[in-house]
Amino acid sequence: MVDPGPFVDEAVDEIRETIGDANAVIALSGGVDSSTTAALAYEAIGDRLTPVYVDTGLMRKGETEQIRETFAYMESLRVVDGRERFLDALSGITDPEEKRAVIGEEFIRVFEEEARGADADYLVQGTIYPDRIESEGGIKSHHNVGGLPERMEFEGIVEPVRDLYKDEVREVARHLGLEEIVAERMPFPGPGLAVRVIGEVTEEKLDVAREASAVVEEELEEHDPWQALAAVIGKATGVKGDNRVHGWVVAVRSVESRDGMTARAQELDWETLQRIQSRITGENETVARVVYDVTHKPPATIEYE
Ligand code: XMP
Repeated sequence: MVDPGPFVDEAVDEIRETIGDANAVIALSGGVDSSTTAALAYEAIGDRLTPVYVDTGLMRKGETEQIRETFAYMESLRVVDGRERFLDALSGITDPEEKRAVIGEEFIRVFEEEARGADADYLVQGTIYPDRIESEGGIKSHHNVGGLPERMEFEGIVEPVRDLYKDEVREVARHLGLEEIVAERMPFPGPGLAVRVIGEVTEEKLDVAREASAVVEEELEEHDPWQALAAVIGKATGVKGDNRVHGWVVAVRSVESRDGMTARAQELDWETLQRIQSRITGENETVARVVYDVTHKPPATIEYE
């Protein structure tokens, strides 16, 4: 386990040395990795760092507001509203890897504009150890800001948490005083809620996945899962009031893991499962059923696409 005190000092020194008097950009996603990395880099170079948060419309409930609050102390913070752009770009696309590619491409476009505006020579990234392993293994195209370095000429890329596991990043986040909600926040995929809706990404499906994921995170907080989520996996018949409806099927998933590379489906009690079911179907008019996913990884993945 990393010793956060010395780690922070060394990381800040290293960032300062590498970047010197130049400017840098970082893409903030709201997750613990990029948040921790941004805090380290900001400590090192202050407002010469431009943290860019893009609201893709694929983010968790309340994430944009949370970012504004947590990073209010960074005067150089840029919050970009990209909701319409991303939805347009994703229209008609159903293949999971194609979705990732489109989101990655759109993200790079937005980010490129911001990086040029900030006159940045360096790119700071919150890549952690398992990201590198999975990318090298080619399991999924973990886009993060992958592809950006090839598109834009940066003098260098700085990845201060590249050798850490997720739980070590959390330690560092706590040491830096990042609010508990950030330090403790569950991992969330780069392509966001797009991998929690099967098939085409629509605003309606995203809204269901966003609200249901928030219910799951809230209700399972005490069970301390490594990651918990809800996904919109199809349509099925149900009865709401006196009417038969053709509504969404929401899958609930909660897993235990160290690093996401393998995972175990969490054993949950009936009462908890029923409470989740009743909230999701009750709070969303269009949801007809809720199912609980009992599959480990492997053979399943954690996300649905
Ligand atoms: P899977 O679904 O592959 O996920 O078992 C393992 C961990 O990675 C997250 N995940 C992603 N993260 N880009 C990311 O940055 C992606 O394309 C992506 N797909 C999955 C997932 O949420 C889990 O924590």
